[in-house]
Amino acid sequence: MPDDKNRPDHVQSSEKTRDQYETYPYPDRNPEDEDKRLITGSPGNWDEVVHFVFGGRDPSAKGKIKILVAGGGTGDALVMLAQQARDRKAKAEIVYIDLSESSRAIAEARIKRRNLEKNVTFVTGSFVDLAAEYGPFDYIDCCGVLHHLPDPDAGLKALTDALKPNGGMGLMVYGEIGRQGVYHMQEMMERLNAKAGGAKRLHFGKALFNSLPGTNWLKRNPFVGDHIHGGDAGFYDLLLHQQDRAYRVDEVFDFVEGAGLRLQNFIEPMRYDPTTYCSRHDVLDKAVHVPFRDRAALAELMAGNITKHIFYVVKAKNKVKPPVPSPELIPTFTRIEGANLARSVAKTGNIKITFTGLAVTRTMPSASPAILSRIDGKRSIGEIYDMFDPKPEKFEFNAQFAVMYSVLNAANLMYLRYPEKK
Ligand SMILES: C[S@@+](CC[C@H](N)C(=O)[O-])C[C@H]1O[C@@H](n2cnc3c(N)ncnc32)[C@H](O)[C@@H]1O
Repeated sequence: MPDDKNRPDHVQSSEKTRDQYETYPYPDRNPEDEDKRLITGSPGNWDEVVHFVFGGRDPSAKGKIKILVAGGGTGDALVMLAQQARDRKAKAEIVYIDLSESSRAIAEARIKRRNLEKNVTFVTGSFVDLAAEYGPFDYIDCCGVLHHLPDPDAGLKALTDALKPNGGMGLMVYGEIGRQGVYHMQEMMERLNAKAGGAKRLHFGKALFNSLPGTNWLKRNPFVGDHIHGGDAGFYDLLLHQQDRAYRVDEVFDFVEGAGLRLQNFIEPMRYDPTTYCSRHDVLDKAVHVPFRDRAALAELMAGNITKHIFYVVKAKNKVKPPVPSPELIPTFTRIEGANLARSVAKTGNIKITFTGLAVTRTMPSASPAILSRIDGKRSIGEIYDMFDPKPEKFEFNAQFAVMYSVLNAANLMYLRYPEKK
């Protein structure tokens, strides 16, 4: 093999990335834990995907769907997507691609442990070269990967080319502002000429981190914790990566639009809305009639705690929109038990939502407990209305539903879908 200095930069950095994940597969997972719990999250929660990518019409209800997990690591998204497909009795063909053999071995063992291997294809290599060969896909999950590529724009373009015209993607890239101190650590490593990889880099990095004073920005940043709670793989992934960048909201939009895509929304939507942080209309006056992009960029600066940007995209020409409340649509809860929420809203009149250290309280309309307790993931909004006795005025019910839904949807707790056609 030629000397490092004779190989192009992008080849060297891909090899460093692969070597890192061969030695420290990420995240650190034990396949036996599949017997005890399912790890869920975003992107890739199926209700979110149906809502943001497919406008509330689940394509898996109609026929086979093809999914790509690009840079699948040790398998969190792969296992979640395969299990969701099984739970919905959906015909899904899932392709996993990753550079790292050792990450793939863990992902494969997790899938086997759940007997989900039948419709999963495992591929070792770069999705930048391979995605189109295995596509086209209805949905692509690429979480925590694009920011590690030597050329993220080319990576996103390769994924876009592997997408069906009406398909979409759930993506995650690092957020610059919430990662205050992470890049200071990476710069210190550079300045100390710490070029070695593997265990040597880990020991050196830990010694450096442990020597930092309490005034250091990383030590003062409560929003990142992988270096403390994520084991060696977490420490390495957060602080010692040799190919890593982060994005501000404006850069996310440029990234997405440059690849011929359109951003549907961020998760959680509320975090990208300035009114979540400030209720003074005089202060936010200039942020009212501006594009979503500008509101989101302002919200990111206001919040300070966004360590990652999770978002759904579709092709620029695809005009699909997330559904809005109407009588035939079916509301579903994600991540919460409707009965518990109904009880707590009945008691307090509020809902309290917490995002990365920030608690936000929202007043809920008075009919919320009665509506929430009737939502079962099968009834439509019209059927829920029909259950009321005595019936409120229709416009009053619709107005209360709309306000309640806008809070819960913005908090990523409720979605709407169309009934499946028999
Ligand atoms: C931080 S991990 C994220 C794993 C997983 N997506 C998750 O969220 O848990 C990044 C993964 O991307 C993989 N990766 C990086 N560049 C890649 C490429 N060009 N093709 C395929 N996999 C890649 C790495 O090997 C690693 O497993």
